Amino acid sequence: MSPKIAVIVGSIRNDSLNRKLALALAAQGPQDFSFEHVRIDDLPNFNQDLEKDHGEAVKRFKGEIASAAGLLFVTPEYNRSIPGLLKNAIDHGSRPYGQSVWAGKPAGVIGISSGAIGTALAQQHLRNVLAYLDVPTLGQPEAFIQNKEGLLDDKGNIGVEATQKFLKSWMDKYAAFVKQHTKS
Ligand code: FNR
Repeated sequence: MSPKIAVIVGSIRNDSLNRKLALALAAQGPQDFSFEHVRIDDLPNFNQDLEKDHGEAVKRFKGEIASAAGLLFVTPEYNRSIPGLLKNAIDHGSRPYGQSVWAGKPAGVIGISSGAIGTALAQQHLRNVLAYLDVPTLGQPEAFIQNKEGLLDDKGNIGVEATQKFLKSWMDKYAAFVKQHTKS
C-alpha cells in the first residue's frame, strides 16, 4: 500500500483557492504516495473539559493523522495568521496531554491568497505551532502563491506553466523530505 499523505486545507469555503491548490499539488505529487483530504469542518470547538472524549469526529480525525506518513497543510491567511478552524483542528490533535498525534510527522506548509505576500505570515505562524508539536517542516523551497485569473481550476489543473513547474519541483522536494523522515 502506498504511504498516505494527510492533506489538511485551512478553508472550507465552497470555491476555496486553497482546496484547488491542494488538488493541484496532489496531481503533481509522486505516484507512490496517496493523498487523502482530512475533514476539519465537523470538529467541535476544542474544550479542555471534554478533551478525553470529544466524540466520533475527533476520534476519526486523530486516527487519520496517526495513520499518515506525512502531512500537507494548504492554508489561507486570515488576518496575518492561520484560520481559527485550522488551529482548532491542530489543538484537537495535540490533546489529551501525552496523546498528541502530530509528533514526528513530516509536514509541508503552503498556501495561496489574493494578497501580494501570498500567506507568508500565516505560514510563519503555522510553523511556530508545528515546531512546538515536534512536527518537522520542509524549510526550502518556500512557496507563497498569489492567485491570478485562470491559475487553478476545480480539477487540479494549473493554468500557468511557470507555476506548474514550480509546484512540481516543490512536491518533489516535499516527497523526498517525507521519505527521508519515514525511512528509519
Ligand atoms: C482574508 N484574506 C487575507 N489575505 C491575505 O493575504 N492576508 C490576510 O491576512 C487575509 N485576511 C483575511 C481574513 C479573513 C477573515 C478572510 C475571510 C480573508 C483574503 C484571503 O486570502 C482570500 O479570501 C482567500 O481566497 C481565502 O482562501 P480560500 O478560502 O480561497 O482558500
